[in-house]
Amino acid sequence: MAEAVLGFVGTGTITQAIVEGLLADGRATPDIIVSPRSVSRAAQLAAGYPNVRIASDNQAVVDDAEIVVLAIRPQVAEAVVRELRFRTGQRVLSLIAAVDSERLGRWIDADVSIVRAVPLPFVAERHGVTAIFPPDAAMRALFEPLGTVVESPTVEAFELLCAASALMGTYFGLLERAVGWLSEQGIAEVDARAYLVALFSSLGRTAQGAPQASLTDLRHEFSTRGGLNEQMFSVFETQGGTAALIEALDSVLARVRQQNQG
Ligand SMILES: NC(=O)c1ccc[n+]([C@@H]2O[C@H](COP(=O)([O-])OP(=O)(O)OC[C@H]3O[C@@H](n4cnc5c(N)ncnc54)[C@H](OP(=O)(O)O)[C@@H]3O)[C@@H](O)[C@H]2O)c1
Repeated sequence: MAEAVLGFVGTGTITQAIVEGLLADGRATPDIIVSPRSVSRAAQLAAGYPNVRIASDNQAVVDDAEIVVLAIRPQVAEAVVRELRFRTGQRVLSLIAAVDSERLGRWIDADVSIVRAVPLPFVAERHGVTAIFPPDAAMRALFEPLGTVVESPTVEAFELLCAASALMGTYFGLLERAVGWLSEQGIAEVDARAYLVALFSSLGRTAQGAPQASLTDLRHEFSTRGGLNEQMFSVFETQGGTAALIEALDSVLARVRQQNQG
């Protein structure tokens, strides 16, 4: 990206992941300013990367940054943002999934551009997948080195991806349950886990390596007719697995939409 100074208000988990991903190999060297509140994390980043410095307070982050990244929790967001003075034309990147741009704009109360993003922790290893809204060339350029970027053309599409991103816990939950079942049947948990993690990981790579193949085709390709995989999915479907998945997605989407409307 162009070397715009990036300022982070909120130096938590996701800020650390983004900073580590951006500065990991020394190829990209944006100057980065982080807010001081999370003392040990901010100090760790500043000690690890010469491009990172700690601001005296949140306002100093805003004053010195061209792009202000809001990486605070929704519960404190309004109080934190309303206290800050932004410059006309400043770029604001909000990671606060639960607050839409209109509400955030009212809190900022200045003529800034607002882009929302949902980076995931894998950005630290540059294997992230980041949804952004609205499409924005500078923000795309910021996140592209950190993995896949998906630009949502509408807020509705962005909210759908926010809801889908909540499948992370269920992915591990599915693994957890299947490992639990295997170990109840007598396989050592460590072996059950190693087996299933390798299986899921290979399936993920297969889907990623065949973007043109439909998922239905992949399912058929990996399910011998009348075989065990076909039986597994059939029982999953008929016993309510798909219905539960859709209900879970619907309920999370409803929450995302409700939160956004404040
Ligand atoms: N983690 C993710 O994977 C992820 C992904 C996408 C979006 N997000 C969003 O990003 C935001 C941050 O998430 P997170 O997981 O990084 O949370 P987090 O680890 O709790 O980080 C939030 C940070 O904000 C700091 N903070 C609290 N009050 C502050 C204030 N007045 N001024 C400056 N900093 C303050 C906290 O400091 P203290 O610890 O001292 O309270 C903490 O370090 C949330 O809105 C979340 O929804 C997170």
